Order: sequence, then structure tokens, then C-alpha cells
Amino acid sequence: ASTSVKLNTGAEMPTVGLGTWKSKPGAVEVAVAHALKHGYKSIDTAAAYANEAEVGKGIKDSGVPRDQFFLTTKLDNCDHKDVEGALNKSLAKLGTDYLDLWLMHWPAPMNADCSASDKSIDWLDTWKKMVEVQKANPKKLRAIGVSNFSVKFLTRLLENSDTVPAVNQIELHPSCPQEELVDFCRSKGIVATAYSPLGSDNSPLLTNPVVEKLASKYKVQPANILISLQANRPGVNVLPKSVTPARIESNSKIIDLTPEEIAELQSIDKTKHFRACHPSWTGWGSLGFPDCLDADN
Ligand code: A2P
Repeated sequence: ASTSVKLNTGAEMPTVGLGTWKSKPGAVEVAVAHALKHGYKSIDTAAAYANEAEVGKGIKDSGVPRDQFFLTTKLDNCDHKDVEGALNKSLAKLGTDYLDLWLMHWPAPMNADCSASDKSIDWLDTWKKMVEVQKANPKKLRAIGVSNFSVKFLTRLLENSDTVPAVNQIELHPSCPQEELVDFCRSKGIVATAYSPLGSDNSPLLTNPVVEKLASKYKVQPANILISLQANRPGVNVLPKSVTPARIESNSKIIDLTPEEIAELQSIDKTKHFRACHPSWTGWGSLGFPDCLDADN
């Protein structure tokens, strides 16, 4: 796998970046500084993770100049009404004057305190506003994209906007391969960025026999096989999350898997999808997510 993927803006986005969902203040600044000092060229956060200020501290502590790495954050569901304000808030917290990439976190506008859907807002209008802000501030905001968009939502966006999202950041791992969505993104020149490549916390994938077999073949950890799986898919890059320094270091090692090995990994689990896997976003309803993310989105 190459070390970066080309976005439709012409910019290169690193193949591996550090994910920070659920990385808590206190730990996340250490994780970010450690990653940047050990060769990571991409850091991903979100307003909704409530850790942007600490991610910013980690960046500062690393001493790595801002132009040496790619930085992504996301517009929160409760900020659809004030796109420009949300961007400025994130920049201030991160302690930077530009983002390499800003994503609409979910196509799910919510009310000001993020407690319920706000049906008066159409996420398509939010996207149009993001386009406007990006065009007016191309240095401050280098690229825009989306996250958690299904084929249906992307189709509606593409039919109504001349600006193609640079990225769609989605859950991707062997229990959530999302082949159709990844193929669709590739056909439109949208990079698919994999979040939760290990299957998130306490993932059964780390002890899956196919994953363990390949880990011992290549003399790497199971996590490296799962991260490499995504890195080997054309037009896909990947954001493993860890707050553990030794894991952060080892997770950046990518293996070139054979097509047969990729197929074997992708067929691990076709029926028992867990977490937010398209098309049903199973599990998010119980977390109080908006009802617009329904079974046929
Ligand atoms: P921690 O952050 O405590 O190191 P995902 O990227 O799929 O969301 O997975 C993140 C989860 O996987 C976290 O619980 C993280 O723990 C754990 N993790 C990260 N890297 C590894 C690794 N190399 N081996 C085992 N678990 C890992």
C-alpha cells in the first residue's frame, strides 16, 4: 500500500492516521504528541469527541510543525445552524489556523444541545454552506467532506451540489466491509476513510482465527492485519485509534496482503454485523441518535 491517497482536490492524505474517538482529555494529548513524534502524518478528531483542545495541546507538545501533518475535524450535529462559527470554534480549540479536511460528522442535524433531531434543518443546506465557506476561505479550509453517509445520502448530495466531497469517513472492518458503499465512493472520486478498523473496543476481530493466522504469518499483531486490510483497499485510508504509546507505534506498520488474503478477511462475517454498519446503523438508535438515520438510509 502507498503512504498516501490522492484527494479530488489534488492534496495527498496519508494512508494511516491516528483516530481519537473516545480518547479522553489527559490521555489524548500524550497520544497525539507520541504519534506525531513517531512518524504519524495524520490526526483525526471531531467537535463531538470533546477533545479538540487536548488534541491541540498534543500537537503543540509534539513540536512538529503544522505543515508536516494532515489535520481533520468534524462539524457536530448540533452546529448545522452555524457552520462558519463551528469551523472557527474548532480551529481555536485545535490551536491552528487551518484544517486539511473538515467533515460533516453525520447527515443528522440536531437541536442546540444535541438532544434531539432538528427537522427544520436540511443537511443538504449545511453541505452547501460548507462549500461556500470553503470557497471563501481556501487556505483556512483546504478540503471538505462527509462522514457516515450511505449511498442514498451521497446520491442526493451529488445530485444537488457541484462540489464532490473529498472524503466519506465510515466504519470499515471485516464485520462491516461496506463493499457497495466503498465502490460507490471510488467511482465518484471520493476517498473512503475507515474508522474503527479494529472493530472498536473489545473487538472480537482481534482474536478471530483468520486474523490471528495472518498475524503469525507476517509476524505482526492482529491489529496490523486489520489496519492493513483497509490500507490495501484502493481509494481507502484508515484511522486506528489508540491511547497506548506502544500500540500507536506498532499500528502504523502496514503489510501488503494478497488479494486472496483480503478476500478471506472480507468474508469473516457476512451476517453478524456489529456497531453502526450500513444499512441499518444498528446500535445508534439506542444511543439516542436522530431518527433520520433510519433503516433505509
Ligand atoms: P487503547 O486506545 O486503550 O490502546 P478502533 O480503532 O477500531 O476504534 O479500535 C480502538 C480500540 O482498539 C481501543 O480500545 C484501543 O485501545 C484498541 N487498540 C488499539 N490498537 C490496538 C492494538 N495494536 N492491539 C489491541 N488493541 C488495540
